[in-house]
Amino acid sequence: MKNSGFIHEGEPLAKYSTLGMGGPADFFARIKTEGQLLEAAEFARDKRLDIFVLGHGSNILFSDKGFGGLALKICLRKMHFLNDEYWVDAGVAVCNIAELGGMIGFSGFEEFSGLPGTVGGAIFGNAGCFGAEFGQKVKAVKFFDGENISILKTESCILPPFSYRHSIFKEHPEWIMISVCLTVKPCDLSAVVRKNQEILARRRSGQPRTKSAGCIFKNPLRDGEQVSAGKLIDNAGLKGQRIDNAEISPIHANFFVNLGGAKASDFVELIKLARGKVFEKFGIVLEEEIVRVGEF
Ligand code: EPU
Repeated sequence: MKNSGFIHEGEPLAKYSTLGMGGPADFFARIKTEGQLLEAAEFARDKRLDIFVLGHGSNILFSDKGFGGLALKICLRKMHFLNDEYWVDAGVAVCNIAELGGMIGFSGFEEFSGLPGTVGGAIFGNAGCFGAEFGQKVKAVKFFDGENISILKTESCILPPFSYRHSIFKEHPEWIMISVCLTVKPCDLSAVVRKNQEILARRRSGQPRTKSAGCIFKNPLRDGEQVSAGKLIDNAGLKGQRIDNAEISPIHANFFVNLGGAKASDFVELIKLARGKVFEKFGIVLEEEIVRVGEF
C-alpha cells in the first residue's frame, strides 16, 4: 500500500459539523485530488473500513461516540466552464455558486444564497429552499462507485430523477461524487444580486443563525399536501424547549440548535420529544431529514 500520509487517526468530528458536536473518527482524510480519493478508497478496502463522505457537515448528526471508519471530507473545489457546460467540484459551497452568479452574470442559484452546504451534499439530499430544488439544476454527475469513475447524465435518463430530499446517491452511500455539471442561464448581474439579497434577508429573518443542522425533519404529507414540520412542532407548543444545551429554536421549530456544549444524545432526546408530541397532537409521524452518523 502507498504511504497515505494525508489519512489521520482520531480526528474529532465536532469541527466538521455545523452543529459543532460529535466524537472522533477512527480515520479521517481531506480529499483534495482524485488521486487522494482513489488512494483513500484503497486504504479503506485494505483495512475493511466503512467510508463516510462528508461535505460541509450541515445536515449531519455525528454520534458522541464518533465514527468507527474512514471519514472523507471532500475538499475538491474547482469550477470551470467547458464548451457551454458549467462544471463544479463536489466540495464547492452552494452559496458560492449563487454569489458567483451575481459577479459574472448567470442565474439559477439565487434561492441557494446563504445555504451552507456543499454541492455534493446538496445533490445527495436534493436540498431545497424557497421553491427551488438543487436536483433541478443538475445535468450530470461524475462520481467514483468504489471500482470506477463514471458520469451519470440526466439527458440520457441515466441519472434517475430527484425527488423531495432524495437522490440516487442516498441509495448508494458508498458512491463518492467528484464533480457536477450544472444548468446556468446568462442573466443581468443586477437582477441576480437583488434576488440573492432578497433570499439572504428571508433566510436571516426566518431561520436561526445559531449552530444547527438545518431542518431536522422532512415536511410530511397531510391529505396529499406537504405541511411544514416546523409549524407542526411549533403548534405542539415546543418552541424554545430545551434538553440541556440543545434547544428547539424559538425562531423556526424545525431547527434544533446547539447553545454551546450540547451532546448528540441531547438532540436525540429532543427529536424523540418533538416526534412524540406531534404524533400525539396531530397523528403525524415525522421522518428525519438529517443524516445520523455513528452509533446512537
Ligand atoms: N412556521 C411556523 N412555525 C415555525 C416554522 C414555520 O408557523 O416554527 C410556518 C411559517 O410561518 C410558514 C410555514 O410554516 O407559514 C412554512 O415555513 P417555512 O417557509 O420556514 O418553510 P418550511 O416548510 O418550514 C422549508 C424547508 C427548509 C427551507 C424553507 C424555505 C423542509 C423540511 N424545510 O421549511 O429547508 O429553507 O422551506 O424555503 O423542507 C432544510 O431542509 O434543512 C431547510 C432548512
